[in-house]
Amino acid sequence: MQNNILPKHIAIIMDGNGRWAKKRFLPRLVGHNQGVKSLKEIVRYSSDIGIEYLTVYAFSTENWARPKTEVNGIIKLLFDAMKEYINELIENNVKMKIIGDKETIPENVMELFNDCENRTKNNTGMQFNIAFNYGSRQEIVHSVKEIAKMCLENKVDINEINEELIQSNLYTKDMPDPDFVIRTSGEIRISNFLLWQISYSELYFTKTYWPDFNKSEYKKALEEYQSRKRRYGKI
Ligand code: FPP
Repeated sequence: MQNNILPKHIAIIMDGNGRWAKKRFLPRLVGHNQGVKSLKEIVRYSSDIGIEYLTVYAFSTENWARPKTEVNGIIKLLFDAMKEYINELIENNVKMKIIGDKETIPENVMELFNDCENRTKNNTGMQFNIAFNYGSRQEIVHSVKEIAKMCLENKVDINEINEELIQSNLYTKDMPDPDFVIRTSGEIRISNFLLWQISYSELYFTKTYWPDFNKSEYKKALEEYQSRKRRYGKI
């Protein structure tokens, strides 16, 4: 792997925790727990090799429809992981940010996220984005509503609406688009993740379940990225 042509922004759909557990006749939450371990390894390694932005899909707007025990279990895992891991993030100069609909998440989760964001806000190393209560269509609707408000208040003229204005009202407004999207577990779809932002991203799908996605699997993915030629619609 060459360190000089690494993606600036990597986005990951961490899929397959449930199937990883099922294969072992274990409860789904054991799979999620193992998934948090993979995530820690990938965050650490990404920061070490100089990735500037890492965005992971932790919980979608659709995930609330899962059984209550699973939803609560995932939220508890998130709490425990944050509490245990925040100091390491700070030591490694990682800046954390939550992307998603903050209006409709439980208050205790919101407080935890605000605390993590505040404690890492002056860090200048890798930005680690956690997509929580995130759905890309909802994000685009949110952006459109913000722009509509500006139009009604005569702050923006309809003719001034362009890609930049839509982009600057998305949750990812201060970040470059992902260069590389990884999805684990063998599913070949995007599932409402960063639809606007991945227009020109390189996509990588692996059959490996997320709990088995380790540093060596990650390096393999990055090598594949390095072998691709990005053309952005040109020849
Ligand atoms: C997908 O597997 C995984 C999730 C919906 C949850 C991912 C969450 C974590 C790894 C914990 C988040 C923690 C932090 C610290 C951000 P699945 O349940 O859809 O698996 P399946 O498709 O095999 O059923």
